[in-house]
Amino acid sequence: MAARGQWGSKTGFILAAAGSAVGLGNIWRFPYTTGENGGGAFVIIYLICVALIGLPIMMSEIMIGRAAQKQPVSAFHTLQGGRSGWSGVGWLGVFAGFIILSYYVVIAGWAMDYTLKSVVNFSAPITQEARVESLTYRAETSVDDMREMLIARKADRLGRETTRTIRWKVRPSSMEAYNEFMTALTEAGGGAEARQRLLSDETLRRQVAEAEAINPEIETAIAQARTDAEAEYAGHDDVTIQTEAVDVIRRGVINDKVTNAFLSVAQDGWMSIFWTAIFMVLTITIVAGGISGGIEKACFFLMPALFVLLILLVIYGMFQRGFGEAMSFVLKPDLHEMRPSSVLAAMGQSFFSLSLGMGAMITYGSYQQSKKGLAGQSITIAGLDTAVALLACFMIFPIVFSFDQEPSAGPGLIFMSMPLAFAEIGPAGMLLGAIFFGLLVFAALTSSISLLEVVASYFIDEQGWSRKKAVWTLGIIIFLFSMPSAFALDPGFAMGGWIGSYGGSFDFLTTVDYLASNWMLPVGGFFIAIYAGWVMPKRMREAEVEGLAPIFYTGWLILARFVAPAVVILVLLQSIGILNADEVLHDLLN
Ligand code: PHE
Repeated sequence: MAARGQWGSKTGFILAAAGSAVGLGNIWRFPYTTGENGGGAFVIIYLICVALIGLPIMMSEIMIGRAAQKQPVSAFHTLQGGRSGWSGVGWLGVFAGFIILSYYVVIAGWAMDYTLKSVVNFSAPITQEARVESLTYRAETSVDDMREMLIARKADRLGRETTRTIRWKVRPSSMEAYNEFMTALTEAGGGAEARQRLLSDETLRRQVAEAEAINPEIETAIAQARTDAEAEYAGHDDVTIQTEAVDVIRRGVINDKVTNAFLSVAQDGWMSIFWTAIFMVLTITIVAGGISGGIEKACFFLMPALFVLLILLVIYGMFQRGFGEAMSFVLKPDLHEMRPSSVLAAMGQSFFSLSLGMGAMITYGSYQQSKKGLAGQSITIAGLDTAVALLACFMIFPIVFSFDQEPSAGPGLIFMSMPLAFAEIGPAGMLLGAIFFGLLVFAALTSSISLLEVVASYFIDEQGWSRKKAVWTLGIIIFLFSMPSAFALDPGFAMGGWIGSYGGSFDFLTTVDYLASNWMLPVGGFFIAIYAGWVMPKRMREAEVEGLAPIFYTGWLILARFVAPAVVILVLLQSIGILNADEVLHDLLN
């Protein structure tokens, strides 16, 4: 058997591991998940998850990999000195890697499509059309109407903000019951008699009363929002009003067209699968090139390049008018937005983003022989990953807010927001756009290779397959499994029907992502922490932490043994519904 691959250097290991961690998870998934979960509060929970769960599990994975010098399935056999049920954790990881890679390549394919789109400057005609449409608006509209449009828009925004806060006074369960009540009432024609029949149920009567009690307050808030908006525009002269209104319309048109451009790719299954195929071939080729030759080399200069470009785009965002709003959205935790149900999303995100819970770090760790630097390496990898995720938010949200987009737009967020910035920048924007999406593709590549490596290394290490055979066979099988994700949003195919049957908002891709990130990875991570903390033979564990100050070792041990597993279990219990933290938190806050 050929000698097992090794990293060329310690920096090589760190770059490759950081390359695995930094990917679509940071730039595509983190911002939209933050947007869907209300902003700052989610970011805080995420950071806590990284510190309490992510870091200790990262150390555990690297520790297991280094000690065993084997990929996840065989690592547990080796450490246990014989066949062991723990290898089930490795199998779960191989399976999770398989699933994640199957949709990861689809998103990466979209990024490739956008790279080409930027090269041909797809936004130039869009900006031009938007200018024409906004000029037409200017020609047709009186200043009074423009003023009214601006005021209504502002009032709507202010009103939405305050009513959200007021609604929180009502118990979540009562609010839900009230919404159901209102729907049923409307269906029944809304008569007083129907209302009375419904309200003969005592629990419902109490819940409806609770929800309706805030109505006067909401009305006042909406009236106040209108007054505030009027006051804000009272002093503006006609020219200012015209300029702002025309710009709002222009941005609105660009926004709509860029959104449509995204949908036309995402809803086109054949187009998606075409790019998926190209991206998959790239992934396979690099992994076939081996450890220090393929993976390590690719990460060496692409990671720093990505970092620099992100910073440039953040600087651009600092000069946009939505910057202030974006900063407070990302950095100011609003306690009322602190939905415990977002905790599952934050925890899943931390596993996904740090490449944890499926043995990617076990596998990468196994190509390293040094017994030193465990804590430092883990902190560096997690730190880089977190920095890129935050930078991505600082890059995207100023644009989202400058264009009045919804931060909760979902998985399409990055494809619908970043082109707006590139369109506004003008000719240089085209170049920036091409570089940005190009680097996103590379960031995705350094992650997708780690996913394929986990799956393939089992067949290389355990079944004696050649690297080439393993990588191509599995790559092609996974590609076949990426079909339903590529066609997930295509209304012309059966997968489009998935959306309706899974509660309206879950297409196939979102469903598998939810399953893998929020369930499989945390469950895998739970067992990895338990194994490293409790089961792994003590002398092996201690050999891996050579040179680590005792206080850090003890700190890690406490986190891996108690804190991380407990938090994972609590979050999962809450998600199954055994624990209703939403309601508990409501009662605590009121
Ligand atoms: N961490 C990668 C990203 O953020 C995705 C990934 C998950 C890679 C799990 C390997 C294992 O894009």
